Amino acid sequence: MSRLDVHLVMAARPNFMKVAPLYHVLAKSDWCRPILVHTGQHYDVNMSDAFIRDLQLPAPDIHLGIGSGSHAEHTGAVMIAYEKICAETPPDWIVVVGDVNSTLACALVAAKQGLPLAHLEAGLRSRDPSMPEEINRIVTDRLSNALWTPSPDADENLRREGTEEERISRVGNIMIDAYELLRDKIAAAETAARLSLQPGSFAVVTLHRPANVDRPEVLGAIVAQLRGLAARLPIVFPVHPRTAKKLEDFGLRESLEAEAGVTLIEPMGYVAFMSLVTGARFVLTDSGGLQEETTYLDIPCLTLRPNTERPITIEQGSNRLIEAAGLSGAVDAILAGDWPRGRCPDLWDGQTAQRVSGDLAARAGRG
Ligand code: UD1
Repeated sequence: MSRLDVHLVMAARPNFMKVAPLYHVLAKSDWCRPILVHTGQHYDVNMSDAFIRDLQLPAPDIHLGIGSGSHAEHTGAVMIAYEKICAETPPDWIVVVGDVNSTLACALVAAKQGLPLAHLEAGLRSRDPSMPEEINRIVTDRLSNALWTPSPDADENLRREGTEEERISRVGNIMIDAYELLRDKIAAAETAARLSLQPGSFAVVTLHRPANVDRPEVLGAIVAQLRGLAARLPIVFPVHPRTAKKLEDFGLRESLEAEAGVTLIEPMGYVAFMSLVTGARFVLTDSGGLQEETTYLDIPCLTLRPNTERPITIEQGSNRLIEAAGLSGAVDAILAGDWPRGRCPDLWDGQTAQRVSGDLAARAGRG
């Protein structure tokens, strides 16, 4: 029997660590040929190539070259380019991951071309329709033949929406596979030491959500809090390109950078960044993935958002939601050691890619 062609779609920074573990497992199989499709949504070296390199992925087989744009511009351009690829050489299955605009675009193409579609990291819901990712998650899940979920809450969300049981397979959290794949390299990277910081003595900050960074009054209030935080312990803030632009536009970068305890740096590759996180006293973020990684590593995480699509990181893990005004009180608690210890959710064990591969083989009649 010939091998099945399976497209693995990746687009933006949080996608690479979800695709890589699955790629490595499928590439070793005798029933499938994984084909890497990069849409181009993230294109800076340190938002894309550094991750591809760190995660030991080969160059993408197909690169659509569609950089970021407005939601409609990017989604539409990816659809046009990807539709051509799928019409010329239709794959046997298409796998999309996460919740970025390219995920939605490729899911729409797959569904309209009648190609079998699987969504890895299915079922997550923030119930906040003002988040573009929530729309992407809902539509992608509605269109997918296979829904690979990380946690029981995701299964429940899908059931509540009337999803047929046979479409849902709980596989666990693929991001943990990426961490385990690179655990030794992460341990050897010593990013904190390179920044002259003592492990356990500093905080890591990442912010990029439009709700936090796109309005001057909101970002200004956050910057004021960060300056106060830096007076208590050093903070390392790898600045996402969206945030870098807004800090410049709103004239906020200089005052933040001038603060003695603040280190603003370019976004880092996966290994260097995870090394930094493992040394952090706590993490302040609005990222989705970091809420999960800190839960796995049992590092206190303060999530600067009113909601999360990853509630298990609060119920079982080390994550708490905060508002900017609540930062100082939450930091008091962490520094006093008054922070609940998390536990690692079921199936966050580094074996998710194997389970996904098994499920895909079964669904494709190769199990
Ligand atoms: C996107 C995802 C978000 C994810 C985030 C991770 C959507 C709706 N949002 O947000 O879910 O958490 O990626 O980073 O898909 N830019 C660069 N270089 C790059 C990438 C972006 O300069 O490599 C700049 C551009 O000015 C771009 C802006 O950042 O317009 C925003 O990029 P975009 O991909 O639209 O959204 P993100 O904020 O990165």
